[in-house]
Amino acid sequence: MAEYGFGNPEIIEEEVDILIIGGGMAACGAAFEIGKWNKAAGANLKIKLVDKAAMSRSGAVAQGLSAINTYIGENDPADYVRYVRNDLMGIIREDLVYDVGRHVDDSVHNFEDWVLPVWKAKGDEDKPLRQGGKPVRSGKWQIMINGESYKWIVAEAAKKAIGMENVQERVFIVRLINDKNDPTRVAAAAGFSVRDHKLYLYKFKCCLLVCGGAVNVFRPRSIGEGVGRAWYPVWNAGSTYSMAAEAGAEMTMMENRFVPARFKDGYGPVGAWFLLFKAQVMNGFGEDYNKLRGDTIKDEKRFGKYGQGVPGTCLRNHIMLEEMIAGRGPIMMDTPGAMAKLAEKMTPKEVKHLEAEAWEDFLDMTISQCGIWAGENIEPDKSPSEIMPTEPYLLGSHSGCAGIWVSGPTDLPGVPKEWSWGYRSMTTVKGLFTSGDGVGASGHKFSSGSFAEGRIAAKAMVKFAIDNKDWKPALERSTKDLVEEIYRPVRTFLEHKDYTTAIDINPHYITPKMLQYRLQKLMDEYVAGVGTFYRTNGKLLEMAEKKLEMLKEDSLKMRAKDLHELMRAWENYHRIIAAEAHMKHIQFRTETRYPGFYYRMDYNFIDDENWKCFTNSTYDRHTGKWALKKVPYVQVIK
Ligand code: FAD
Ligand code: ADX
Repeated sequence: MAEYGFGNPEIIEEEVDILIIGGGMAACGAAFEIGKWNKAAGANLKIKLVDKAAMSRSGAVAQGLSAINTYIGENDPADYVRYVRNDLMGIIREDLVYDVGRHVDDSVHNFEDWVLPVWKAKGDEDKPLRQGGKPVRSGKWQIMINGESYKWIVAEAAKKAIGMENVQERVFIVRLINDKNDPTRVAAAAGFSVRDHKLYLYKFKCCLLVCGGAVNVFRPRSIGEGVGRAWYPVWNAGSTYSMAAEAGAEMTMMENRFVPARFKDGYGPVGAWFLLFKAQVMNGFGEDYNKLRGDTIKDEKRFGKYGQGVPGTCLRNHIMLEEMIAGRGPIMMDTPGAMAKLAEKMTPKEVKHLEAEAWEDFLDMTISQCGIWAGENIEPDKSPSEIMPTEPYLLGSHSGCAGIWVSGPTDLPGVPKEWSWGYRSMTTVKGLFTSGDGVGASGHKFSSGSFAEGRIAAKAMVKFAIDNKDWKPALERSTKDLVEEIYRPVRTFLEHKDYTTAIDINPHYITPKMLQYRLQKLMDEYVAGVGTFYRTNGKLLEMAEKKLEMLKEDSLKMRAKDLHELMRAWENYHRIIAAEAHMKHIQFRTETRYPGFYYRMDYNFIDDENWKCFTNSTYDRHTGKWALKKVPYVQVIK
């Protein structure tokens, strides 16, 4: 045992009032905000934040960003709701989206106060946003930043606010534990250090579960030397969705996914190129395919009214996919054309600056794209670059809306009263809150909106903890039982490793890497991945259902030969539960709500009459079964 560094783990138990699980944008927002309400109430609550990685570079903003995609500024939050509703094909929780819209700007102003450089319009260079400084907008809602150090800056403010002694980095949370006396309530979270042989058990009155979205659920386009490269952050493995579902939380819109069109292989974002540089895309023959086939989405029988106005993100993908399926690729972004046009009215110095901006867009947030450009001798002002739709991701803060059903604000007119049950941002499980990628049916929050949502949740959690000050958590499961479960992959390895001479080949266990390949293959082939051009049907889903059940069973045989593999094993378990939710929701919704993200070929049309509704699900951890239902959509903003 000692050879592999495993004996019995040291067990660290801690009781706090509020636990923040994750260290990303939403977690930082919560950490920043929480002290203020704690102090105002004179409550002296004990707060702890636990992240699987190091906060200064963890989560989706790890590499930095080149834009803040949600800044309302001169616009109206109600109009923001209309934009999000249109982009997400008519079904969003408008109360939640509006709440983010009316609060988000203060967070962006804070980022600037903390020295995040925000691009300013000519003449306003030294005027902060807070004082009316005009930002450089790439689009109506997006503003440009020099954001390589964005996460570092935001994490520093969060750490300062709660104190580094209340931050525990490098601890991967595996599961939530419900309360022994009230199974509809969470009482603790258990996980392990990815550096030391220690198991952590945090008891709490409430927690904020903000571990981001789910990446590497589907077979990625990257293979071989590129494997591991994805667009959304690979270290977000569906922990938010799986832990919430297993604790009994109602999920919503888990059929939704985001398939971003990206610069091929490097996964460089397209937003700045489309919106700021006004670049055009063309097919392999140099034709503007949006002009050639853009009108096809006006077919009301198939796309309802959604193809009539500004096409949402999935419909833009749909047009591109049709062109690719017709064999008219590759799809190329005309970067030289865009830069030449912009350069027409520029001095040589300004042109140089423009070239630098083209590179910086990627250096700020997707450095791998610069690697591709440099490696393939691509100069963006001279050669166009290929665009490609990626593998699907599950997320709730970017251009998607998968997630958990949460309690909304109470002060907006026209909102159904059942959309709010006491504490803002609380899920249907008592004491379990979420924000950012965790919140379903409310996409397009991005980095700033996720941070703002974390702040909103923090205020409600303080209230919850104070209202429950005399309540004592009692755990449904014993510590021994949790250690047994969490370290099962280690035991499996130690028990069987000598059975064969090749450490990776053994009839008694499967390596996490191999299990991940299996998951990705089946999701790709049966649940509308890139291999089928995002197409599936009821029969394929039936196959997926069986195969996922087997996979879930076999996941108990994953091995871990070190702490890193133990993390990989549990990440994969979280991915499987998230994948299963996604599959079940696609199976339930017998229509194609998001053409361009996925197609139910047996119901290849938008069906507003039957499906203009939320789809909510719950998971029973004991039976392993899902229950799904329709929840009426209500339009709040005209
Ligand atoms: P994250 O910020 O991803 O945080 C998740 C946290 O959970 C991380 O700290 C992670 O380490 C932790 N974690 C995960 N699992 C566990 C576990 N089991 N136990 C403990 N901790 C765990 N937004 C913009 O505004 N502008 C942009 O230009 C922009 N570009 C983007 C470009 C890319 C390449 C990506 C990936 C995202 C981009 N976004 C952009 C979106 C933005 O980054 C996200 O909306 C935002 O970070 C979501 O916040 P979150 O807190 O929900 O998740
Ligand atoms: S990023 O977050 O990784 O930078 P991306 O480049 O897709 O994402 O988008 C940035 C912002 O631009 C998002 O708000 C997205 O909705 C918007 N966007 C991207 N492409 C287009 C387009 N062709 N038309 C309108 N909006 C777009």
